[in-house]
Amino acid sequence: QIYSKKVLEHFTNPRNAGSIADPDGIGEIGDPDCGDFLRVFIKIDDNTIKDVKYQIRGCPASIACASAMTEMAIGKSLDDAMMITDDDIVSELNGLPEFKIHCSALAATGLQKAIIDYFEKYITKGQIKEMNDAIQI
Ligand code: FES
Repeated sequence: QIYSKKVLEHFTNPRNAGSIADPDGIGEIGDPDCGDFLRVFIKIDDNTIKDVKYQIRGCPASIACASAMTEMAIGKSLDDAMMITDDDIVSELNGLPEFKIHCSALAATGLQKAIIDYFEKYITKGQIKEMNDAIQI
């Protein structure tokens, strides 16, 4: 068999699939070569990832990677979650066949993009607050 037991287990029983109604960040990433697509939703509290969900149109490996990514990210600080790499996800799944390694990139990059989206919103809010504070002075 080409996939590890863990890949098959995540693929047949994906964790945290779905969407978050009021997300703090959204990351979208597609692979132009295969056409697969991933959308990641995150919920943040106190600089910690409280929840991650995803919608995906992808191959079995990419679904298993997205599922594993959610379990790896939930409970991590934003800094630590940002550091989750493709290789970390592949290791978590006890490996992927060589020709499927690239499928892990969607999950890692999707999560990073969701965190960046959160930071961009946060910075914007911070700037608005600064402007309001300045006006009040
Ligand atoms: Fe497209 Fe796996 S073949 S992500």
